[in-house]
Amino acid sequence: MKRGGLILAVESSCDETGIAVVEDGRKIHSNVVASQVAMHAATGGIVPEVAARAHLRWIVPVLDEAWSAAGVGWDDISAVAVTEGPGLAGSLLVGINFAKTLAYVHGKPLVPVSHLEGHLYAAWLTDEAREVPEPLFPLVALIVSGGHTFLVEMRDHLQYRLLGETLDDAAGEAFDKVGRLLGLPYPGGPAIMKAAAAAVRHDVAFPRAWLGDSFDFSFSGLKTAARRTIAVEAGGAEMPLPQDRVAELADGFQESVVDVLVTKTIRAAKAAGARSVVLGGGVAANRVLRDRLAQAARAAGMPLVVPRPALCTDNGAMIGAAAARRFEAGTRAGLDLDAKPSLPLARR
Ligand code: KG4
Ligand code: ZN
Repeated sequence: MKRGGLILAVESSCDETGIAVVEDGRKIHSNVVASQVAMHAATGGIVPEVAARAHLRWIVPVLDEAWSAAGVGWDDISAVAVTEGPGLAGSLLVGINFAKTLAYVHGKPLVPVSHLEGHLYAAWLTDEAREVPEPLFPLVALIVSGGHTFLVEMRDHLQYRLLGETLDDAAGEAFDKVGRLLGLPYPGGPAIMKAAAAAVRHDVAFPRAWLGDSFDFSFSGLKTAARRTIAVEAGGAEMPLPQDRVAELADGFQESVVDVLVTKTIRAAKAAGARSVVLGGGVAANRVLRDRLAQAARAAGMPLVVPRPALCTDNGAMIGAAAARRFEAGTRAGLDLDAKPSLPLARR
């Protein structure tokens, strides 16, 4: 039998409602995402209760669209997969209950998937728009999202060894917080990338937390340094900084984050004797990080596998990709499946 065949995958852990139909963990038949970003921009961040209600509002239309775009029937579907964690409890529960209902009504197995494993397995999705090499083991993966930042080694499918993780803020969280300090719209990640692209002087240097030889990360010192510099440059006033200054500060911040992420990832990949490097998670949509890591990996003789930006940020296809491996390994959930808000991917 083929790996999983067609899997219907549901993702609702944070602020995107995603449903996809994925074949054998690789081929995307449909992948529909309803984003709440515009809604959360009004509050400058996610209000969990509001996010859960929005999932409830959009999950049926998202399924309808994903279903008709895939052009398949229930007889073709071998399993229903769903993100069980980590994430916001209320948001997770909407997807979990929806997936349970579909699995029950249509008599399909229910496959629980880790959101973080989804970000990792997005690297196995094929892309009609461009050639993506298949990741080769052993590999080292950097996962950088709004809630997580870690380096993991994989010697085979579903086998993880945690090499390092953030001791405080996730990289995406740092982008979002500094974006807010710079007066940029929510979410800060894409806004900082856009603002930084206009930098010309590149005269802002922020500290890097190397933490010795460790593969751990820390972004809270950088955030504090950025806050202090921004306050000084704004003269303590509530005055918004001029746009060209925002560009330089955004550039200085982004360079600091990218430098640490790239340096540690390449060092970890060399230490592990990796044959490829994988990049995933929402921050992997960052052009500077993608380019810089690709360049460094190439120089070290290892190809970088990174999905296109829309597959780096939260979506259902990545859950379908991980679910195929889980399905094959026999992972199943019953109708008592509960949300696991702080589910870890791996331990040291
Ligand atoms: O993986 P994701 O969609 O959701 C979580 O699982 O957290 O990641 C969202 C994070 C946010 O912090 C957002 O600011 C960041 O990814 N992000 C970016 C970019 N696009 C999204 N950060 C830097 N540059 C980007 N282009
Ligand atoms: Zn995510």
